[in-house]
Amino acid sequence: CGIVGILGRSPVADQLVDSLKRLEYRGYDSAGIATLEGTHLARRRSEGKLRNLAARLRAEPLAGRVGIGHTRWATHGKPTENNAHPHATERVAVVHNGIIENFRELREELQKKGAVFKTETDTETVLHLVDGYLAAGINPVEAVKATLSRLRGAFALGFIFAADDNILIGARNGPPLAIGYGDGEMYLGSDAIALGPFTDTISYLEDGDWAVLTREGATVYDHRSAVVQRDVVKQSASTSLVDKANFRHFMAKEIHEQPEVVGHTLARYVDMAAERVLLPVNLPFDFRDIKRVSIIACGTANYAGYIGKYWLERLARLPVEIDIASEFRYREAPLSEGDLAIFISQSGETADTLAALRYAKEHRLHTLSVVNVTTSTIARESETMLQTLAGPEIGVASTKAFTCQLMVLAALAIAAGKARGELSEEDESRLVHGLIEIPRLMSEALNTEPQIDRLARDIAKSRDVLYLGRGTSYPLALEGALKLKEISYIHAEGYAAGELKHGPIALIDENIPVVVIAPYDRVFEKTVSNMQEVAARGGNIILMTDAKGAAEATIESLVTIILPDMAATFAALVYAVPVQLLAYHTAVVMGTDVDQPRNLAKSVTVE
Ligand code: G6P
Repeated sequence: CGIVGILGRSPVADQLVDSLKRLEYRGYDSAGIATLEGTHLARRRSEGKLRNLAARLRAEPLAGRVGIGHTRWATHGKPTENNAHPHATERVAVVHNGIIENFRELREELQKKGAVFKTETDTETVLHLVDGYLAAGINPVEAVKATLSRLRGAFALGFIFAADDNILIGARNGPPLAIGYGDGEMYLGSDAIALGPFTDTISYLEDGDWAVLTREGATVYDHRSAVVQRDVVKQSASTSLVDKANFRHFMAKEIHEQPEVVGHTLARYVDMAAERVLLPVNLPFDFRDIKRVSIIACGTANYAGYIGKYWLERLARLPVEIDIASEFRYREAPLSEGDLAIFISQSGETADTLAALRYAKEHRLHTLSVVNVTTSTIARESETMLQTLAGPEIGVASTKAFTCQLMVLAALAIAAGKARGELSEEDESRLVHGLIEIPRLMSEALNTEPQIDRLARDIAKSRDVLYLGRGTSYPLALEGALKLKEISYIHAEGYAAGELKHGPIALIDENIPVVVIAPYDRVFEKTVSNMQEVAARGGNIILMTDAKGAAEATIESLVTIILPDMAATFAALVYAVPVQLLAYHTAVVMGTDVDQPRNLAKSVTVE
């Protein structure tokens, strides 16, 4: 969820909605704002996208110079208007991002005291706690302080009060919250981007902090409620929202941007003229001392990490474990001090990945993050940060962030191979040369779009789709299946091609398209055998390969998508393009909400 709060000099409703637009990546199943109209806390909320809220506000505007807003990704309680934030009594209104873990106990306790609950949300317990203190005559600051001491879990909160139009209180324990300083105005927001149109003067709350804002400034308290000073930084998040250019969806634009942004990322990590890897930071460890690397991430970033594992193992001879963040942090895996953990995240705010990062730090691992948003919590808290230069990614399904992550991991694997004496200078120059070719090859791969568009009409008729690959094409198969599921809602699974015969082959019949990702490489022949197994059972194969592969794969009833010839090592970067296009065009045929698919959020800041 995303939250915003404004103490303004003029009516704030429009600004709140503007800011929520920038936070929609955190959830978009319902939204709402509350302002103080005179001494009355007034709300407008609505189910679904923000445009519904905006329409509601046009019909029934809200006055008031202090307000809070929220865009929701439902945890407790369905995404109905009634469950939408802000929640309010006549004394206080609250917005919340996160989960109150002890909400059941609190609810029982509050109900015994006579509180009447109107929603299914955990947030309402916070509301009634504060309201109870206010009703007992305690002032807003003390009421919030007392409430915070009762809460367990992860939360960012924002409060406004009926009794005072010059106070806005925020609290952070887990999900991020920033204070924005304006000219006689003050702001709260989940991130600097949300506050971009209003101010570039930002201060981030740390975990356990809470802050009392008035139009004159802010007082920040730490978890013991001692007054603390937090750095105030100048950060210019652009004031305009990114637009779709001439594309129908952000996702299409972002797929097409890849040659350019992957090129930018490349330029940051290699010296193109000298054909050398050049990391922009000094690593605080020596790759020769690392015994094992753990790569930890969620979703698409996890699959980028999986491909990175293949590269680090092969090029640097480093043992690598790939982990899903939510598993890593609870599994109690043995970790050795001084080893390296790599965290990959587009947003840099994913709660599971952040928790895993903190866990790794507790175990005294070196921590390196590959992040797109450099102001994010993960970027700030990791020992070393390597930026992907994808630019803002708006489509919920990650595309350009994924390929930029791959570019950084490829450069890192070469750097590690060099440092460990596994790669000679010639190896390095050959590999870097291969990377320099990638942006051009990605542009060529975009030429497959008309063919893929036609193919998507058939895929759209399927109930299930399988994706197969070997080597780095295996994690790419996982990513292909994820992309298709998340935006077209068609069930899809990715498998290692060699694993098909151990179970999933039972699914094969003429109704299941099987997408095989197979650049011509040293395992190509093996993959062809696996395709034969599919063909023999009537399965329809879509083969993504190069000219050489197409010539070798002599199987009937095959649709072949031909990609440019290239050295196989980094082929995943190029093959990602048709994989993404296939998911995109299928979703367009299905008529889904491509950029904001149902039930998802771009950045998930709860566990
Ligand atoms: C969400 C998104 C996924 C994304 C994952 C990790 O679940 O829907 O597309 O891959 O989070 O996000 P991150 O920002 O950490 O890369």
